[in-house]
Amino acid sequence: MKAIVRTKYGSPDVLELREIDKPIPKDNQVLVRVCAASVNPLDWHLLRGEPFLIRLMGFGIFTPKQQLLGTDIAGRIEAVGKDVTKFKVGDAVFGAGTAGFAEYACMREDKLVLKPANVTFEQCAAVPVAGITALQGLRDHGKIQSGQAVLINGASGGVGTFAVQIAKAFGAQVTGVCSTKNLEMVKSVGADHVIDYTKEAFWKSETKYDLILDNAAFQSIRESLRALKPNGIYVIVGGDSSSSLRILLSLVLNPLIALMAKRKLVSFMARIKQSDLEFLKELLESGKIVPVIEQKFPLSEVPEAIRHVEKGHTRGKVIISVDSGNVV
Ligand SMILES: NC(=O)c1ccc[n+]([C@@H]2O[C@H](COP(=O)([O-])OP(=O)(O)OC[C@H]3O[C@@H](n4cnc5c(N)ncnc54)[C@H](OP(=O)(O)O)[C@@H]3O)[C@@H](O)[C@H]2O)c1
Repeated sequence: MKAIVRTKYGSPDVLELREIDKPIPKDNQVLVRVCAASVNPLDWHLLRGEPFLIRLMGFGIFTPKQQLLGTDIAGRIEAVGKDVTKFKVGDAVFGAGTAGFAEYACMREDKLVLKPANVTFEQCAAVPVAGITALQGLRDHGKIQSGQAVLINGASGGVGTFAVQIAKAFGAQVTGVCSTKNLEMVKSVGADHVIDYTKEAFWKSETKYDLILDNAAFQSIRESLRALKPNGIYVIVGGDSSSSLRILLSLVLNPLIALMAKRKLVSFMARIKQSDLEFLKELLESGKIVPVIEQKFPLSEVPEAIRHVEKGHTRGKVIISVDSGNVV
C-alpha cells in the first residue's frame, strides 16, 4: 500500500510517499481502507518532535517511534481482529488512529463509530480530534449550560468551528473571535456575535462571559480573565506551544494568576472516547454540526497540507482525500 512515511523528526520535507506492507490488525483492531483523513496541529508537533516535551511523552527522544502519522480517519472496514464484536467487514466508520495518511490503517475498535449514511467520509474525517476537543472543552471542563454567554477565541479553526456549532447545540449565546476574513464564515456556522481580533481585544469589552473556550491563547491570561463573569470558567485548549519551557511555565503560572483573579481556569488534553464520538455522530447525522472544509489534498500532498496547517490560520479543517473513488 502507499503511505506517507518519515524516519526522523523534521519539517514536512522529511515526509515521503512510499510503498509499504499493509498493516495487520491486532485482536482488538480493525483494518480500515482509508477514504479520507484530516490534518491537526498535532500532526506537525509529532512530525517535528516539537515542543521537545512531546518526545518525552513516549514518542521517541532522538528518533520518532511512529513512522506514520494521521490521527483522524474515515473509511471502510476490510478485516477485523478476533476480539472485535461491534463492527464487521464492509462497515463505514470514522474515528481516531495513529497512521491515517495511508491507504490502509489499523484502528482500535473502541476509538471508532459507524459513519452516518447522510455524511461523507471527508466530512467524518474532519471530526475526531477537533470535534472531541471542542465537546470536552465546552461540556466536561466548561460545564456549558443553555442560555449562557459563551466566547470562543480562535472560532475559525478546526476546534473553533466545531465549538461554535456544539455550543449552539447546547443552547448557548455564542460569540466567536477570529480575523476579518473569517467573520462571515463564523457567523454562518451559528455564532450570534463575532469579534475581529485584528480590530478589537475581547477582554477590553464591557461584555462578560460565563464560559470562554480559548483555542488561541497567545495573549496574557491576566488580561483575558477580565472577560469572565465572577462564576465563569476559562478553558484553555491551545496557544503558544513554541517551547517546552513556555508550556511548563504557563501550566504553573496560569492557575496562580487565576487564583489571584478569583476566576476558574482549566487547561486540558482531549482524550478520544467512543461515547463522545457517538455524541458527535448524532450531531452530524441531525445536521447540528456541519464540518467546515477549507481544502482537500491527495495523499501525495500531505507535506503541503501539513505546511498549510502549521501556519496556524486554517479555516475549519484540511482534508486528505485518500480514496477519491469511495468518498460518498
Ligand atoms: N488541548 C487539546 O487537547 C488540544 C486538542 C486539539 C488542538 N489543540 C490546540 O488547540 C489549538 C487550536 O487547534 P485547531 O485544530 O483549531 O487549530 P487550527 O485549525 O490551526 O486553527 C487555529 C485558529 O486560530 C486562529 N487564530 C490564530 N491567531 C489568533 C489570535 N491571535 N486570536 C484569535 N484566533 C487566532 C486562526 O484564525 P484566523 O485565521 O482567523 O487568524 C485559526 O482559525 C492549537 O494550538 C492546537 O495545538 C489542543
